Amino acid sequence: MSNASVKHVTAQSPAGTPTVGSRFVRACLRRPVDRTPVWLLRQAGRYMPEYMAVRKHHSLLEICRTPEIAAEVTITAAERLGVDAAIIFADLLLPFTPMGLEFEFLAGEGPIVHTPIRSADQVRALRTDRADELNYVARAIEKVAAHFAAPRVDGARGPDNQDQLGIIGFCGAPFTLASYMIEGGSSRNYIETKRMMYGDSVAWPLLMEKLVAVLTAFARQQVEAGADVIQVFDSWAGALSVPDYRQYCLAPTTELVRRIQAMGVPVIYFGVDTATLLPSMRETGADVIGLDWRTPLDAGWEAVGEGCAVQGNLDPITLFAPDDVLRARTREILSAAAGRPGHIFNLGHGIVPGTPVENVIKLVEWVKEYGAQ
Ligand code: CP3
Repeated sequence: MSNASVKHVTAQSPAGTPTVGSRFVRACLRRPVDRTPVWLLRQAGRYMPEYMAVRKHHSLLEICRTPEIAAEVTITAAERLGVDAAIIFADLLLPFTPMGLEFEFLAGEGPIVHTPIRSADQVRALRTDRADELNYVARAIEKVAAHFAAPRVDGARGPDNQDQLGIIGFCGAPFTLASYMIEGGSSRNYIETKRMMYGDSVAWPLLMEKLVAVLTAFARQQVEAGADVIQVFDSWAGALSVPDYRQYCLAPTTELVRRIQAMGVPVIYFGVDTATLLPSMRETGADVIGLDWRTPLDAGWEAVGEGCAVQGNLDPITLFAPDDVLRARTREILSAAAGRPGHIFNLGHGIVPGTPVENVIKLVEWVKEYGAQ
């Protein structure tokens, strides 16, 4: 049993319902479930009219920083889709502000950091003592937790009720966050990131250490507020060779995973284009590894080993396919998992804008139906 199972054996959610009753949390811990749990990366996003209605009146950062609105967006998406877990509405880059790094989201361009980090002095100037300022995310999680802990109309409760929604908190992984800090935004070749990683043996380790410190504090706030699981997004780790990942990123990421598990929750560690990295990612000790769609689920699971749960891995663009194709791919993933404990159905990456909402809803229904055998 991993450290991460502790909270779920002994702790109670705020309303006193054991969260081990959640099939999502059970699957993270590789315990048997009544059916495969499902949630979707970017389930609250621009493809969803309800989200766009909120976005008409608020910027992305306003939504993130206003607990009432962030909670509402989180809850609406989870309920609209009927998924087994709600991921808190926030963003990977939020910790930059208390670290002293200004950024904004420009329409159509994604995030922009105005003064990217390029020197050891700039890394030294980054602050690690103000993570408290991120507690609006924890306040939003409290609201989501209170909402889902409320007694249900049908009164179904108790330790065997696996219907309790899981609440997912999240943060970035050190490499992926460093890439935004150093490149100043999204990147194709990660030249400046890798230049620092290879060439500055003072700046890079210090940056990793500072990120781990802030991310640990941020994750702790989320767990204390009621997050059942923390997902660590290493979205761009796939840009690294295996030796580079192992030499420059594995140790700080492992440290982050261990510190979060010591808080008593399971960790899901996710990246894209990670086929070759999977065995190394497993070495972080994460309870669940997120698989992108390029590796068949059973091959991905073999690469991480049976002692670990997996999450994935439908190509999000399959949601644009006709029903017969979407249905067939959904079934293939469930058959590759073969009912083994420890599979959480998800996409291999986030839902993209323009995805038909009705297909997303159908997907969730099919997973519930086919994943119950
Ligand atoms: O339901 C959910 O998953 C929404 C919560 C969420 C957001 N960002 C809100 C958001 C989550 C889990 C994230 C994580 C995040 N943020 C990641 C990792 C996930 C991944 O896709 O790998 C990354 C890389 C970021 C950084 C980021 N935020 C980028 C690169 C962008 C621009 C790209 C885009 O899709 O526009 C964002 C903006 C962003 N964050 C949006 C949302 C819903 C869309 C923009 C908007 O509403 O204006």
